[in-house]
Amino acid sequence: METRVALITGGMGGLGTAICKALSADGFTVVANCLPGDAGRADWLKARQAEGHAMHAAEADVTDYDACAAMVEQIEREIGPIAVLVNNAGIIRDKYFPKMEKAQWDAVLSTNLDSLFNVTHHISPRMVERGWGRIINISSVNGVKGQAGQTNYSAAKAGCLGFTKALAQELCAKGVTVNAIAPGYIGTDMVMSMRPDIVQGIIDSVPMKRLGKPEEIGALCAYLASELAGYMTGATLNINGGMHMG
Ligand code: CAA
Repeated sequence: METRVALITGGMGGLGTAICKALSADGFTVVANCLPGDAGRADWLKARQAEGHAMHAAEADVTDYDACAAMVEQIEREIGPIAVLVNNAGIIRDKYFPKMEKAQWDAVLSTNLDSLFNVTHHISPRMVERGWGRIINISSVNGVKGQAGQTNYSAAKAGCLGFTKALAQELCAKGVTVNAIAPGYIGTDMVMSMRPDIVQGIIDSVPMKRLGKPEEIGALCAYLASELAGYMTGATLNINGGMHMG
């Protein structure tokens, strides 16, 4: 049997890398999306190769609908039909709301929420046509509970949950599942970019008293992508060290 192709947006970042590795370990042919001209692309591919994962890279800015169409077209032509899509690309631009600039709002909403439309719109009809697919959207604990300083990010990540449930309903009978993962604070560059005292305060507030590991999110993605996850759709899976229980 041919291996299934999995596309992970923002696949070369902290969470993205762990997701790529988990899916590759489970036998998927992994395509890691990155921004056009990403300077780290070649080194990232080499590092994965050295770990025994032969992966592909695909460039497209997920805020650009037409660029996403071209990327999907090229992957399907050159690598194979996309069976698993992980919408993982995301950024933060944290600011107390009165001080938040329009550009910070727009950047987060377009990268974290518009991207779901821009990428999924080109792939879900193909999955439906083939009668099988897994769409996994990376939300956040802060989309579930809200977070001061993150009106933009919380709004986008909550929007991601609505998108997940609505699309899951549309695709229920078509062999395509749509689920969301809501990670808590994971030890990636995104979290470590905050002031050290803020990071420490967050760790102290997590009942398990530690940050999550990227591999813990990768393993959950691998489950959702698997054949045996076929009865789960429209779900939000909380994975946050007990910080918030949905
Ligand atoms: N609750 C309520 N108010 C808060 C607050 C909080 N947790 N933190 C700060 N404030 C208030 C301050 O009291 C202050 O209010 P006044 O002006 O009325 O006194 C106001 O915010 C401004 O504070 P700053 O001058 O520090 O403003 P800032 O805009 O530069 O920074 C902040 C504020 C962005 C909230 C900053 O404290 C911060 O970075 N907090 C952490 C936010 C966070 O958790 N981000 C997660 C990033 S990682 C991620 O998102 C991954 C994931 O999915 C989990």
